[in-house]
Amino acid sequence: MTVLLTGADGYLGWPTTLRLANRLDERIVAVDNFARREWVSESGSVSAIPIDDADDRFGELEGVSFVEGDLSNRDFVNQLLEVHEPDTVLHAAAQPSAPYSSINGERALYTQQNNISMTLNLLHGLHEAGLEDTHFIETTTTGIYGAPEFPIPEGGAKMENQGERDEVPFPAMGGSWYHQTKSFDAANMRLAETEFDLDISDVRTAIVYGTETEETRNTGRPTRFDFDYYFGTVVNRFCAQAVAGYPITVYGKGEQRKPMVSLQDAVESLVNLVERGHSGGGIDVYNQTTRPVAIVELAETIAEVGEEFDLDAEVEHFENPREEDEEHKMEMENDRFEELVGSQQQTLEEGVRDILGTLVEQRDRITAHEDRFLPGVLTD
Ligand SMILES: NC(=O)c1ccc[n+]([C@@H]2O[C@H](COP(=O)([O-])OP(=O)(O)OC[C@H]3O[C@@H](n4cnc5c(N)ncnc54)[C@H](O)[C@@H]3O)[C@@H](O)[C@H]2O)c1
Repeated sequence: MTVLLTGADGYLGWPTTLRLANRLDERIVAVDNFARREWVSESGSVSAIPIDDADDRFGELEGVSFVEGDLSNRDFVNQLLEVHEPDTVLHAAAQPSAPYSSINGERALYTQQNNISMTLNLLHGLHEAGLEDTHFIETTTTGIYGAPEFPIPEGGAKMENQGERDEVPFPAMGGSWYHQTKSFDAANMRLAETEFDLDISDVRTAIVYGTETEETRNTGRPTRFDFDYYFGTVVNRFCAQAVAGYPITVYGKGEQRKPMVSLQDAVESLVNLVERGHSGGGIDVYNQTTRPVAIVELAETIAEVGEEFDLDAEVEHFENPREEDEEHKMEMENDRFEELVGSQQQTLEEGVRDILGTLVEQRDRITAHEDRFLPGVLTD
């Protein structure tokens, strides 16, 4: 049995590689083109936690074969699938930054071409290689749902028109050029399921936070941790700000709730899904979130837990550069995800404690790049 994991060098991909290799007997084929390393260095930043060089990372990993290549290249993908004939594809490669995709038209185009073509190549590649029984899993995003004024379902939406009701795909409500790539992917996966009869799981990943998993700790081979404006997601960036003695910047009132999930729960649920396989009918959608958290609750939790590390974190409210309802009380169904991940989910407070504990060791590295908390370098 073979599992093909894309985006294996990434924040989520690396600890997933380690857990797959640790837990399963399957052969793991890990793929990446190391683009994330270039984007972060282009934005003048670094991973707060030093990670192995690209050349060394996959060298001696038992049970894992690494293939370097660009998945937006159709020939590369076709060859990859023909040679390895995976039973599961876990597709976690993407340009995943909303702010990066919104810098200008060039980067919006790059993000959309990169992300959409990868998924299209993999879906068509599976069909053309006769691998229709392969379980195709993609980490899309909860951002697909936008911020509607009703509880968000785990998947489609119920629509009523002229007294008739039906379940339809959720509209593309994403708030950035990046988020829209995942709506395109969801639509393309739906078409591939109908046209090619593929087994597809669409894992709608929430904002991931955390530094470590059991395997990164035990092997001493950490995953990257970005804190800059473009690639540091909100929890991770706020924690780095607290460690650097930089105020935690909340946009506007900060009462809007965003769905979140810890790195360890995200990894655990993906590996469980690989093990368990597809349900056998239609597209399986999982809202990969523990719960939505208000931004101001997050900032206050970091300030509170920070006291255990002698941090004196201040919470500051800035004018919101985004068009959003600052009091949006998001509710999101997540029963399928809860069932998949099990009951031992990490709380926000535990996750923040882990992150701060790791980051205080890296304070100098963060403060040397603290100007990267704000936008600026990548303006053209
Ligand atoms: N981290 C989050 O908070 C979050 C939230 C929602 C969704 N997601 C999704 O989860 C997945 C993993 O995200 P992440 O945070 O680990 O991002 P990441 O950037 O750290 O990892 C993605 C990896 O994909 C690789 N990649 C990108 N384009 C490629 C290409 N053309 N060919 C080969 N490799 C390529 C990158 O080099 C990188 O290592 C993505 O699909 C992302 O959209 C992440």
